[in-house]
Amino acid sequence: MCGIVGYVGRKPVANLLIEGLKRLEYRGYDSAGIAVVTEKGLKVGRSVGRVRVLEELVQTTGGFEGFLGIAHTRWATHGSPSERNAHPHRGTSRKGDTIAVVHNGIIENYVALKKYLTDKGHVFESETDTEVLAKLIAELYDGNLEHAVQSALREVTGAYAIAVISDHEPHTLVCARKGSPLIIGIAENAYVIASDPSAIIAHTTQVLTLDDYQVARLCAGAADRASGEPWAVEFRTTTIDNVPVSRDVQELELDLQQIELGGYDHFMLKEIMEQPESIRNCLRGRIDQREAKVVLGGLNKLVRDLVRAKRFLLTAQGTAYHAGLIGEYLLQDLAKIPAQCEYASEFRYRNPIIEDGTVAVAVSQSGETADTLAALREAKERGATAIGVVNVVGSTIARDTDAGVYLHVGPEIGVASTKAFVGQVTVLTLIALYLGKRRFLSDDVVRAYLTELEKMPEHIRRVLEHSDMIHDSVARHVHRNNWLFLGRGYNYPVALEGALKLKEISYIHAEGMPAAEMKHGPIALIDEGMPVVFVATRGSQYDKVISNIQEVRARGGRVLAVATEGDDHIHQYADAVFPVPDVPEPLQPIVTVIPLQLVAYHAAVLRGLDVDKPRNLAKSVTVE
Ligand code: G6P
Repeated sequence: MCGIVGYVGRKPVANLLIEGLKRLEYRGYDSAGIAVVTEKGLKVGRSVGRVRVLEELVQTTGGFEGFLGIAHTRWATHGSPSERNAHPHRGTSRKGDTIAVVHNGIIENYVALKKYLTDKGHVFESETDTEVLAKLIAELYDGNLEHAVQSALREVTGAYAIAVISDHEPHTLVCARKGSPLIIGIAENAYVIASDPSAIIAHTTQVLTLDDYQVARLCAGAADRASGEPWAVEFRTTTIDNVPVSRDVQELELDLQQIELGGYDHFMLKEIMEQPESIRNCLRGRIDQREAKVVLGGLNKLVRDLVRAKRFLLTAQGTAYHAGLIGEYLLQDLAKIPAQCEYASEFRYRNPIIEDGTVAVAVSQSGETADTLAALREAKERGATAIGVVNVVGSTIARDTDAGVYLHVGPEIGVASTKAFVGQVTVLTLIALYLGKRRFLSDDVVRAYLTELEKMPEHIRRVLEHSDMIHDSVARHVHRNNWLFLGRGYNYPVALEGALKLKEISYIHAEGMPAAEMKHGPIALIDEGMPVVFVATRGSQYDKVISNIQEVRARGGRVLAVATEGDDHIHQYADAVFPVPDVPEPLQPIVTVIPLQLVAYHAAVLRGLDVDKPRNLAKSVTVE
């Protein structure tokens, strides 16, 4: 989703901003733009398509020399992707100063504001809500950018992270947030701001975050512009009502290597392949074999409430929703607590009933998904205890929950979520065992699961060894435009996830469903050559899945089966078999999803598609 970068300091800003935008490309976008305060005033460049198109534009047109600037990658919400609609947007004050704004979020009352500003004589060139904000700040500007931004934001409803500059104040960058993410990096003699840490880490590890309705004024510059001395940097944080607030400087736990490709062709492949290591990190320090217990420091303060909970309500979107569905099975099965997983976007609008003793679990890689955050707040308001299963440390959801467990799988850059899904399922398994042990599970049973969990990194490594074989099998079917993914029990959400992965990056139409459901309609789709991917590992429903496979075969479908290592029986029914180690049923999703990630990856590469930048998708969906 939209990405923001801003800089004020001693270094020439244009290339620095473009490099920052490249780090944010993975979030998904359709156009990009930059504004720099130069000696000759504000210089703006915007273009449709990739950041490299903007980079070429900046190089060929020139004139972007300056030390204060903002830049943006836009993911269209109001108005189509076009140069006109790309950010930065501008407004002109009554005294003729130019204001430039980049924005992530949605201004909900933009129609009324637009009318007010049009009546005041402002002429709009785009269809965006952001231009309203630029013109409103300009309308209220009387030489103090911080005050104009505060005043404007008091008139606005909606969600925003914004960065604002004016040609009248060549040393000042003002930013603010409500609902959308924004991080401020404190670098040497400079400030750099961005929507996420990946665009900051090259400059500093010292960061500040803002809470909702807070504004930061960041100044870096010299009193004497000609000599550049003495150089002064200062920042101030306030609320939109201009009440000073103090913010702590934090250390970013991220290194540059983690967000670079490291020899892989794509981030998605890198993240699939590094899953043994990321799951090892996720499990680190959390398994105490001697005591047969799970150690989750982040939940300790709530342990009594959690153990006595009457119901768990998991809420999420996308891939995290599929992990939440597996969490539903795990909590019921291992902890014997009624559990239910719902799309966050549906949950919040159906006037949900939250009884006493409800624990709401927000599952999210980014910790910024707008619907998940809103559902979490709704549940909290209605009295639920809120916990987070989140990857990004310090993200909004992580901060809004009463307690939580981080995934610790490292930054996920690939738009199609892979290692975060496996991390989410692993953490939900740990939570179910943490509670199960305190409710009724014997030490022996807990210990047996923990032993198996500790083997997961090695199990995943073994599945990854089949990548070439999976590639060759996919190559035989990749020309087919409709695929089905089927599984039962714990592997039903895995089938949903397999179908989502394939859709997201290969644009092949795919549906996932419970294997038995196929007979109630979708079987009509099956014809000669249609690929049907079964998760058919050994377990309580194995024989039933084999029957479903035969139903597909009888209609000419091509079966690709994820099966337990050593299951020779299944070869007679399947065109291709992707083996996974034999693990207890509740732990199977952690291994069975891996071949499906590889199916999607190889299908997209075989179709010649840009795996890390799938069309229309955003990594982090911060609008509802
Ligand atoms: C977007 C992403 C998905 C992700 C979903 C939820 O749709 O493209 O990969 O699963 O958002 O994101 P979250 O950050 O909350 O896990």
